[in-house]
Amino acid sequence: MKITIFSLSLFWFFFGIGSTEEKRLLLNDPQQMQSEIHALQQEVEHFRVLAAEFQAQKQEMADLKQRFELLESSSKKYGSIYTRWGKHSCPKLNGTELVYEGTAGGSHYSEKGNGANTLCLPHDPELLPDHFPLSSNPLTSFGFGHIYGGEYEFSLKNMALNDDVPCAVCHVKMATSSMMIPAKQSCPTRWIKQYSGILTSNYYSYSKLEYLCVDEDPDFIERSRQDENGRLFYPVRGVCGSLSCPPYKNESMLSCVVCTM
Ligand SMILES: *[C@@H]1O[C@H](CO)[C@@H](O)[C@H](O)[C@H]1NC(C)=O
Ligand SMILES: *[C@@H]1O[C@H](CO)[C@@H](O)[C@H](O)[C@H]1NC(C)=O
Repeated sequence: MKITIFSLSLFWFFFGIGSTEEKRLLLNDPQQMQSEIHALQQEVEHFRVLAAEFQAQKQEMADLKQRFELLESSSKKYGSIYTRWGKHSCPKLNGTELVYEGTAGGSHYSEKGNGANTLCLPHDPELLPDHFPLSSNPLTSFGFGHIYGGEYEFSLKNMALNDDVPCAVCHVKMATSSMMIPAKQSCPTRWIKQYSGILTSNYYSYSKLEYLCVDEDPDFIERSRQDENGRLFYPVRGVCGSLSCPPYKNESMLSCVVCTM
């Protein structure tokens, strides 16, 4: 083994000397020198092209970076909002965050006027002063509307009849649309389910109120279990007729889901 390595190194030693000598000899040849210089020139030219390409790519990267940063900052302005009825908080989903929480408020179940929609009234209101100047004549009296707190008219899980109804306004980043689908518990493909629950409205023979989706695991406002009425939340049942049965069922309660995309 030792002998083999020794003879190999001898071989490379002589070969090395041989090739150096050969090169030196060739460089003395003007024609060979000419072609060597030409090859070198070509190589330099090649590197010049590479350097220019590199510079161009560097510029392109800088432009891309700038465009990405612009897009990133403007994407912060996108988003969609929905109200989660019956909860103090927003769903624990990536990109969904609480804007504020409050208590459901709207028209009294029996009053014909007031607003038609239901509002999420914040827990920390900034009230107008008692003598807010509506008119230069303080003796003028005005008509006005009412707003009441919301009460459940059913019991579900931890929540019971007459508990007051909380709400949470939720913001979804990276979304531009939100919708409530009645009679569904899942969202169409590519939509993200925020929450599902049961469809509610006012009692059928009282004044009209809007249909709202109350979370299937409802929270309630602490120590609010008194029958004070106000904006009432009743479950909604389907009635067959112009509503096709099947797929609907007479007198069965309807589900609902809130989806974003
Ligand atoms: C939330 O989404 C962001 C952006 O898509 C991602 O980087 C992050 O890892 C996600 N976080 C969780 C907890 O899924
Ligand atoms: C649906 O239920 C209501 C209330 O009980 C009833 O009056 C009506 O006749 C029913 N309709 C059908 C198609 O069964």
